[in-house]
Amino acid sequence: MKLAKPRVFVTRPIPGPGITMLKKKGYRVEIQPKEINISKTALIKAVKQYDAIITLLTNRIDKDVMNSATPQLKVISNYAVGYDNIDIETAKKKSIIIANTPCKEVSEAVAEHTFALILALSRRIVEADAFMRANKYHGWDANLMIGRSLNTLTLGVIGLGNIGKMVVHMAVKGMGMNVLYTDRKRDMTFEKEYGARFCTQEKLLKTANVISLHVPLCPSTRHLINKKTLRLMKHDALLINTARGPVVDETAILHALYAKKLGGYALDVLECEPHIDCNPNDRYEFKELKNVVMTPHIASASATARDAMSTIAAESIIAVFQGKTPIHKVV
Ligand code: GLV
Ligand code: GLV
Repeated sequence: MKLAKPRVFVTRPIPGPGITMLKKKGYRVEIQPKEINISKTALIKAVKQYDAIITLLTNRIDKDVMNSATPQLKVISNYAVGYDNIDIETAKKKSIIIANTPCKEVSEAVAEHTFALILALSRRIVEADAFMRANKYHGWDANLMIGRSLNTLTLGVIGLGNIGKMVVHMAVKGMGMNVLYTDRKRDMTFEKEYGARFCTQEKLLKTANVISLHVPLCPSTRHLINKKTLRLMKHDALLINTARGPVVDETAILHALYAKKLGGYALDVLECEPHIDCNPNDRYEFKELKNVVMTPHIASASATARDAMSTIAAESIIAVFQGKTPIHKVV
């Protein structure tokens, strides 16, 4: 008997390379065509119907959704590096394979974006652009918009995963920055190669001029930056978040910024995504502050990185149906 080809559901349009790969294998691919986030009901329907699903980080595959899956569903391939949108424990119990899409291309794209944000803050690029557009420039001025040179600053990297490592690489080799890092474990080889120094989180927060977050979102990293940890930081420190919004307590950051106890905040992710403001009724707003730079969760949005993610998402599905373990299997 010839087995039917796997049916794959994609929750929202993604770049083509992975889709082409699946179709070439004869897999029956259905892409939800609209640029919308499908409902929980639609997700529940999907986990009952398909052999594999490509999800996005905006799809919450919680316990209810996971528990609705029938044994037909073999793999959920998350088109993202982070997988905090998926109930991993329930997936494990139900033997549904979960895979993600980390790769060099994504690490490079996210690290580049991290530097775009660091430079935007340290050299006041967004503020300067607004100044130009408002026709405020009336001639060269030796004191206009003085920023800080990165090679005079210490970068503190929290989380030395693939992305954190790429950020250190660019900081040291490209910008001549001094680097401190924290992680669950020390990497002596990496330290030797880059002259990066391992330290406690407290020391890093107290010492670094630029602090960049590269940890996944999990219970131990939720609100890692909060009222207490902000108090340890230098009053002119720049904080960069290309990880996940809830790794910081945005209210605490807003309070610190308004009180001038923090030098600046650059974010690519929001605590209450996609809302810029978790508390629309208070009087503190990121939008009001010149020393805040915001981008809409686009750190991995280079064509190269997104194509690579698409390929990896498809490769994981193909591996499962060939009886192999996907390279980027989470559980
Ligand atoms: C993006 O945030 C990702 O996790 O890939
Ligand atoms: C994954 O790529 C990470 O940086 O942890």
